[in-house]
Amino acid sequence: MVSSEEKGFISIDPDQNPLKEVHNLLLGGVSPRPIALVSTISEDGNDNLAPFSFFNAFGANPPYVAFSPAYSGKDGSAKDTLLNLEKVPECVVHAVPFDLLDQVLLSSTAYKPEQSEFIKAGLETLDSEVVKPKRVKNSPFHMECQVEQIIPLGGTNGSGNLVLCRVVRFHVAEAVMQEGRINPELLDLIGRNGFNYYTRASGTALFEVDKPTGQGLGIDQLPAHIRDSEILSGNDLGKLGQLETMPDEQGVKEFIGNLKTSGVELKYHNLFLHGLDSVNSNPIQARKDMEIAAKVALSANDPEFAIHALLFLADL
Ligand SMILES: Cc1cc2nc3c(=O)[nH]c(=O)nc-3n(C[C@H](O)[C@H](O)[C@H](O)COP(=O)(O)O)c2cc1C
Repeated sequence: MVSSEEKGFISIDPDQNPLKEVHNLLLGGVSPRPIALVSTISEDGNDNLAPFSFFNAFGANPPYVAFSPAYSGKDGSAKDTLLNLEKVPECVVHAVPFDLLDQVLLSSTAYKPEQSEFIKAGLETLDSEVVKPKRVKNSPFHMECQVEQIIPLGGTNGSGNLVLCRVVRFHVAEAVMQEGRINPELLDLIGRNGFNYYTRASGTALFEVDKPTGQGLGIDQLPAHIRDSEILSGNDLGKLGQLETMPDEQGVKEFIGNLKTSGVELKYHNLFLHGLDSVNSNPIQARKDMEIAAKVALSANDPEFAIHALLFLADL
């Protein structure tokens, strides 16, 4: 069923493996995926609501999102969402926050076309401004969409159907806005992982990273003793590789000299100076301490300290 072509990897040919396994690979490896709660309307006016995690945004000018209702793996039948969109090519795509999870799960169960998942899942409706399908008041983020294309991705059991949507109106709850932006902590979205796993995008799962500016020197430009360090991780080297310039020998000496005279301010300064003091008595441990100080500096977003400390080490 699987062949191991390279040591440490399992290589899988999707054409030679059961649909379920291929589906599970996608769910596990392309994850967490945002969830679109999609509202549509049938030709005769029945409201429909269903979640889709094969979903993302694809452009801003103009704004496009897409999701994919698949044909049933068992009998090849089409989902109500797809059938509705083929007749009325409009929908509203909603974001799913943590406190809507169980109502959204309820809306994903297979109700008959004439049964409204709004009612079944106890979700409140709001009229849309541009399109016919209704909005879910309980979600804090809505996109009214016109469906431009439905692209069949196989046309058989388990195949997806990519629904390409142009967003014609956004609605954002004031409660999730802060300083003119959507605050992810307030939005508290969930994502879909493989099997029964979900991710909650708030609390300790959220973190900020500064975007690299300019062009980094690259890891290949770091001296070998830094690249080959057993203490620094790939992330640590990545942060150092983002630096645009490398301090020269004089700059390194001055930086460390200033550190010695200015006294200890931060824990990693202390660790570095402690290493420096013991470099003659216990050189191996001292170098280790100094590299760890650089690593801690990197995690504290102080790559300048880290690079000076690591370059200073080379001459010890
Ligand atoms: C979190 C979540 C994500 C889902 N993602 C998809 C998806 O991307 N594609 C799909 O075909 N079905 C997906 N489903 C299953 C559909 O929501 C389900 O088949 C639903 O009954 C379809 O409703 P409809 O027949 O009213 O369109 C998902 C279900 C859940 C709970």
